[in-house]
Amino acid sequence: MAQLLYIEASPRKKRSASIEVSQAFLEAYQATHPDDQIETVDIWDSDLPSFDGEALAAKYAGLSGEPLTQEQEKAWNGIRRLAAPFLTADKLVFAIPLWNFGIPYRLKQLIDLISQKDILFSFDSSGFAGLLKAQKALIVYARGLDYLSKTSSTPAAAYDFQKPYMEMWLRFVGVTEVSSIVVEKTLFGAAVDGESRGQAKQEAVALASEF
Ligand SMILES: Cc1cc2nc3c(=O)[nH]c(=O)nc-3n(C[C@H](O)[C@H](O)[C@H](O)COP(=O)(O)O)c2cc1C
Repeated sequence: MAQLLYIEASPRKKRSASIEVSQAFLEAYQATHPDDQIETVDIWDSDLPSFDGEALAAKYAGLSGEPLTQEQEKAWNGIRRLAAPFLTADKLVFAIPLWNFGIPYRLKQLIDLISQKDILFSFDSSGFAGLLKAQKALIVYARGLDYLSKTSSTPAAAYDFQKPYMEMWLRFVGVTEVSSIVVEKTLFGAAVDGESRGQAKQEAVALASEF
């Protein structure tokens, strides 16, 4: 029985393209993997602390090998709790909107909180190593404009800081196999949007059985 962790990074809920496609994937996944467990982290309904004060002091103390104070220890335990679902998951699925050419700030906040040495990665004289046991991830990206067509006025190579960032971060924390599904032009009305979402849902369902 595998554990799949689903991270929902859009606050648009019923209107969200990334959630709609991810839900199609998760339904098909559950149907083809009936014994697996799916856990959801909705980052808009999670208590994400600011990364400052004692937690930040704990990070720097840990990096320089100093013992943590009681307050730092308490703050660090909060970070460990936030990271825990990522450490126990066998597979990861993300629903991620494009905001200002990157990822939404709440997702970046979660990543800043949990990406810690000896929690999500290790570092020694031989370099960095990711500590996640999950080897597989699927990311559903949703974008208002068009980044992939030849006529795009916002071509991905120059404007996309969402997919390259997520793929680098996942590799850094140890995930080796990252699949992606992209829904674009969600700002161009229902006809374009519907077609784009439909196509992405088909891709999602096709991927689910082998994921
Ligand atoms: C704060 C904010 C910033 C956005 N920035 C961009 C952007 O830089 N480029 C773009 O193509 N669309 C942008 N959009 C549009 C979203 O990418 C689009 O609505 C997408 O469908 C959001 O994903 P969702 O439907 O899963 O919520 C932005 C939307 C919001 C709310």
